[in-house]
Amino acid sequence: MPDRFPPIVRNFPHLLHGGDYNPEQWIRTPEVWDEDMRLLKLAGCNTVSVGIFSWTALEPDEDRFEFGWLDTIFDKLEANGIVAVLATPGGARPAWMAQKYPEVLRVDSQGRRQKWGGRHNHCFTSPAYRARCQVINAKLAERYRDRTALGLWHVNNEYSGECHCDLCQDAFSAWLRDRYNNDLDALNHAWWNAFWSHTITDWRQIEPPSPIGERHVHGHNLDWKRFRTHQTIDCFKAEVEPLRRITPDVPITTNFMGQFSDLDYYKFARELDVVSWDSYPSYHDRPDDWLNAVTVSFIHSQRRAMLNKPFLMMESAPAMQNYKPVCKLKRPGLHVVEGLQAIAHGSDSVQYFQWRKSRGGFEKFHGAVVDHHGGENTRVFKEVAELGSQLAKLDVVVGTMNPAEVAIVYDYENRWAVDDTAGPRNQKKDYFETCVEHYRPFFSNGVDVDVIGQEHADDLGCYKLIVAPMLYMLRGNFADRIAKFVEQGGTFLTTYFSGLVDEHDLCFLTGFPGPLRKLMGVWAEEIDTLYDDETVAIVPAKNNGAGLTGKYEGRHFCDLIHTEGAKVLATYGGEFYNGRPVATVNRFGKGRAYYIASRNDARFNADLFSKLIDELKLRRALGTKLPDGVTASVRTDGSREFVFVLGFNRKDVALNLPRGAGYRDVLTGKRVSGRTRLPRYSAMVMEPVAAKRKDRKRSPRSRVTPAS
Ligand code: GLA
Ligand code: GLA
Repeated sequence: MPDRFPPIVRNFPHLLHGGDYNPEQWIRTPEVWDEDMRLLKLAGCNTVSVGIFSWTALEPDEDRFEFGWLDTIFDKLEANGIVAVLATPGGARPAWMAQKYPEVLRVDSQGRRQKWGGRHNHCFTSPAYRARCQVINAKLAERYRDRTALGLWHVNNEYSGECHCDLCQDAFSAWLRDRYNNDLDALNHAWWNAFWSHTITDWRQIEPPSPIGERHVHGHNLDWKRFRTHQTIDCFKAEVEPLRRITPDVPITTNFMGQFSDLDYYKFARELDVVSWDSYPSYHDRPDDWLNAVTVSFIHSQRRAMLNKPFLMMESAPAMQNYKPVCKLKRPGLHVVEGLQAIAHGSDSVQYFQWRKSRGGFEKFHGAVVDHHGGENTRVFKEVAELGSQLAKLDVVVGTMNPAEVAIVYDYENRWAVDDTAGPRNQKKDYFETCVEHYRPFFSNGVDVDVIGQEHADDLGCYKLIVAPMLYMLRGNFADRIAKFVEQGGTFLTTYFSGLVDEHDLCFLTGFPGPLRKLMGVWAEEIDTLYDDETVAIVPAKNNGAGLTGKYEGRHFCDLIHTEGAKVLATYGGEFYNGRPVATVNRFGKGRAYYIASRNDARFNADLFSKLIDELKLRRALGTKLPDGVTASVRTDGSREFVFVLGFNRKDVALNLPRGAGYRDVLTGKRVSGRTRLPRYSAMVMEPVAAKRKDRKRSPRSRVTPAS
């Protein structure tokens, strides 16, 4: 890994700040465009994402092109030093295309051809759709290739969905033939088709899963999801072909969504030059904002780890969204924290949907930097401008990375399998939420984490600790890689509902947790599940050495395990399995493997992981205990370090910086040390400096003028 990655936009060593811009909606009032340029600069914005839904404005009829308006926008952007993130317009296709080539319209899982309308709803297989994308994309690339404003390609928009047309069905069949070497027996075995007399005797009998057809064959469902990822990427590749050919030096991204899990984003990321995503948490939907903050950071940490380099937060709401049941305004201050939160975890941008509120249309009430009222005199605009002025001081952060020593495994294929399988509990399986719960103690302690999948390309040896909750499905050589990791001194932790099936969702027949059994030193014989309102006591063993004290509560999932060499750290304190092990640790080679057999309360995870953080000397961004509602993380180029402190509290809190440590507040230039005040919803970016004598003498409790 280089010490510092080059800026994502060539020769533009700044954090990107800007957002989705739809000038085609204002073609009748071009004076609005000039006002936009004035306001962009006032808001400290240096980029716009343009053209995302402009297909009809660019090509009002097949092969009739109108680039004049976009030329003018490019002129204006260049005159104002603003980078264009230029989108290809595939996210919403023109009516003429559906009229002329009905095959571009999707067929739903019940066989109904959809009508034209909406967006993000084209058939990914359709040759006509792909061909028209290639034409318009090539035109865009040829026309704007030499424009200095062109910084990055934004291909299509938030890929999603599936199509069941004949073309897709044929493509699925061809994909399966390839996967199973043209061997139907192999497919029947992988899908365990002897069950319910499902044996397939002709490739043409296979259809995609459907609510009015086959939907209970897990291997089939999994392969359909894999195919969907494959076919979406295949379409993406067709769309980018002209871009790679005509503008080989312009990087390419597409914007991923947050918790969306229908596509394997790890696979998709490998096709991108830079990962980007759209972040839309529901802050203020509960008494405190911590869980939202944890969840957003979890996803940031995943997006960074996908290519192991800085990513972009391509969209976020400058104020509220408009499509949730309740759309709350962001409370004053949160905007800046949310923006710096992205940077803190490895984003090299803060971008918005949307720059200017549209006058009509479905999203006319979606938050924007510029409101219907226009101008700069709004609360939201001022907060955006404040963040803009801060980002402008953080050029030094561009290209730096978070030095994570912990990885949490959150795997899409595993998620599909967990969600799809029937039993042992069909409600609140909560795989994603469980992974976030395991991220939380690290977040609370200011410890950077990578979130990775089972096919993570980089050497696992760069981590000290790998946590893989609910690792139901083990694929490829992941179990071997984990065993090697532990053997060489790593610490691994997994939980209940792990090591049950292989990549086809076929159960391991060697005792659970399957290929991890020897490593974990336990055999999971049975699994009990409890009703939502039931709990079982968890009793720490005396001198467990794992930081467990008092009693804890287990819920939902309870594995009944036997130790096979592992040491017992805690036992069940109830049910017919009273006294049986529930938390264990096994020495394996130079490392250790923890098995946590039940879904436990937050305090259990907090205690266990705090202890592991200390024991493994995992790096805390601040080396000090953080107040509730505050997290910290580090970006570094290997020599300089930038510590981000993010406060999600609704009231001011005191922050005790580590004794003897001195920092320079990068945003204010002031020195900070000792006890400082973190106002409600606020953030700091600090660079450690050699402590002055006077600082060293000062008691850590002495009050230091807060950075303002
Ligand atoms: C019914 C069916 C069986 C099996 C069981 C499962 O009784 O006849 O084939 O599916 O349910 O409980
Ligand atoms: C998504 C889309 C945008 C917009 C926003 C609204 O992220 O990409 O076009 O619809 O949602 O939040």
